Amino acid sequence: MTTDRAVLLADTPPRAEARLRALLPEVDFRPVVLASARERAADAGAAVVWLNGDAEGAFRAVGALDARGLRVIVVGARKDADLILRAMREGAKEFVVSEDEAGLVRALRESIRTSRAQEGGVVHAVFAAKGGVGATTLATNLSGALQAGGTRTCLVDLDVAMGDVLAFLDLGGGYSLSDLAKNLSRLDPALLETSLLRHGSGVRVLTAGPPEQAERLEAATVAAALGFLRQHFGAVMVDGLRGLDDLALAAVEASDRILLVLTQEIPAVRDARRCVDLLRRLGCEDKVTVVVNRHRKGQQIDDAVIADTVGLPVGAVIANDYPAVIQAVNRGAFVADDAPRAQVTRDLAALAETLVPAMPGAARAGPAARPGLIGRLLGGRSRDAARG
Ligand SMILES: Nc1ncnc2c1ncn2[C@@H]1O[C@H](COP(=O)(O)OP(=O)(O)O)[C@@H](O)[C@H]1O
Ligand SMILES: [Mg+2]
Repeated sequence: MTTDRAVLLADTPPRAEARLRALLPEVDFRPVVLASARERAADAGAAVVWLNGDAEGAFRAVGALDARGLRVIVVGARKDADLILRAMREGAKEFVVSEDEAGLVRALRESIRTSRAQEGGVVHAVFAAKGGVGATTLATNLSGALQAGGTRTCLVDLDVAMGDVLAFLDLGGGYSLSDLAKNLSRLDPALLETSLLRHGSGVRVLTAGPPEQAERLEAATVAAALGFLRQHFGAVMVDGLRGLDDLALAAVEASDRILLVLTQEIPAVRDARRCVDLLRRLGCEDKVTVVVNRHRKGQQIDDAVIADTVGLPVGAVIANDYPAVIQAVNRGAFVADDAPRAQVTRDLAALAETLVPAMPGAARAGPAARPGLIGRLLGGRSRDAARG
């Protein structure tokens, strides 16, 4: 079973193709000539159409691919208003200048993310700026909130040394990521249903497994498992990312959204800044939502200071409520069960609502709407510029 749909590369110069393969190794790129792009569209989710020579043929291909539901990125030699306009009329989602490799990679990531999101569940990586900021608390409680809101949710704990999810939810043992990865080909929904650990709330849980298994866990296994889970769950929540080791990278790469968790403390804010710098270099900045946990009003380190230091706006705050959080953990329950009216519960619910588009009353997940193609290219301020 394939997890990600292919990306057609129409009339793409070999050198550019090699670069894309190196930069996006997880993507199944399929080089095609313009004339056969249409026939090859069947199992592709996106296409890059290069304008080099036969512009008419290229635009016809853009129109045909768009009509088949692919997200099309057009690459041209220069920002030419006529070409951009034409590309847009034919249904292209992006127009990128051929020199702008980073822009093309970003556009491709966004296309893949969108076609994945249309295909299955949404994968969230909960990324702690530093230890102890509440990543596991958020991962478990957001999973609970999503499940309670009607989204089938799987919580994955990648921490190979001391994963906390089982302790938080008072569960033990169970099927591991490696077990899952070994059996992808024969796991049907029914078998998956009986294999995964199940919390009383309905949330399914998958861990890195016992130490001897966990230590051998590979990035490719994580990527394959997350790709598989997204097909069977409305939401997958990944906890236990440690720094940016290769397992964490695989999770970040496979995620639609990264919840970067920090607290109102200088070390956490500083570490968050480093994380954002790193994620930006990976081209993942667009996926990041900054979440301030243990939030208290009237602090010197407020949202504005955090946004300024971290370089991204604060996307959500979760109130500080140690008694409620600790009581829930000690019972293996969610904060919402113990303290349904507490601010921390309401904050968690509000964040959960933004995570999955299908939730009732949900705001569409993802960063604030980006300006349109034309706006972005002709005079619109870029996101980077807007952030300074
Ligand atoms: N919103 C919150 N209010 C109060 N205490 C919290 C909150 N979130 C987490 N905590 C507490 O912070 C500590 C660390 O949380 P944990 O989720 O284990 O962090 P991490 O997984 O990032 O190491 C725990 O004692 C937890 O109870
Ligand atoms: Mg933890």
